[in-house]
Amino acid sequence: MRQKIIVDVDTGIDDSLALLYLLASPEAEIVGIASTAGNVSAEQVAANNLAWLDVCRAPAIEVALGAAEPVAIPLRTTEDTHGPHGVGYADLPKSARPLSDRSAVQLWIDSARAHPGELVGLCTGPLTNLALALRLEPGLPRLLRRLVIMGGAFNHPGNTTPTNEWNVHVDPEAAKEVFDAFGAAPRRPIVCALDITETIEMFPEHLAALAERAGSLPPELVSATDPAGTRSAAANPIIRHFSDAVRFYFEFHQHYDQGYLAHMHDPFAAAVALDPALAVLRPATVDVELTGTLTRATTVADWSGMWGREPNADIVIGTDPALFFDRLITRVGDFARALYPAEEVR
Ligand code: RIB
Ligand code: CA
Repeated sequence: MRQKIIVDVDTGIDDSLALLYLLASPEAEIVGIASTAGNVSAEQVAANNLAWLDVCRAPAIEVALGAAEPVAIPLRTTEDTHGPHGVGYADLPKSARPLSDRSAVQLWIDSARAHPGELVGLCTGPLTNLALALRLEPGLPRLLRRLVIMGGAFNHPGNTTPTNEWNVHVDPEAAKEVFDAFGAAPRRPIVCALDITETIEMFPEHLAALAERAGSLPPELVSATDPAGTRSAAANPIIRHFSDAVRFYFEFHQHYDQGYLAHMHDPFAAAVALDPALAVLRPATVDVELTGTLTRATTVADWSGMWGREPNADIVIGTDPALFFDRLITRVGDFARALYPAEEVR
């Protein structure tokens, strides 16, 4: 039985790998991709989504354009983290695929109504479009089978300010509206926050293993000593484009003294969306600070009912990163090999 999933992304380097993971997973049936402004503009996110579908020779999957701005504040993007076009150094060929006639907001609403109780929602960017959809369809939490969110930081430092995480930082009002609304959901949203996603550390060795699994030559040997911006020579286009994308992320993390590595926030959330057993969950009541001078956009978890409010989230408090990478490398590597057999792309 395939799992119907709507994917809301701000593609993004790690969003790209989340898309690859889902496209490589036979059990995933992507009913649509919502393009949310965040890492880069909504238009650029949509263009990246369409371009990745081309690279993956994917069937006609609907890609919808999201709102240009967050629900209450001007958009802030982060090209310094994800590159000028949001996919690092990758130069993805522009796609001729058409954008959906529907907005990302309408895609959320129509998809949830079309598949009541069946659809898993995965959000790996700001929650702008989901919040706007909730305003028009307050029944969304009961229509979805489950929601999985990459976002927030709880007992863990932020990555954008000392206490907040990027996706929530971009649109904190939307995040609050989503957490408030999903308190009524039959299943609490699964929240993959920095506490866990910063343990999902991709190293060059993972990239080399992915290329090897794909049968791509020459071996994909990316090193911290390479000149910045070195481009991949991988024969397999999926490996080549993803390596060019993630090298930018390696350099970004190294620049901020986190090591020559890349936190794979979004593909981890995608893997959990398909298999929640990957995660150890703990219920909590989550709210978002909107008025703090120093703490605006901080996600706060009440683990023990101090607020007297029902839990509205299942926060991931544990996982096995090695198991995740094994699954990622196997799935995406086999997918890349099947699409571009070595003898075809020499
Ligand atoms: O804070 C990490 C999150 O922000 C990831 O989803 C990354 O892609 C950016 O959107
Ligand atoms: Ca993202």
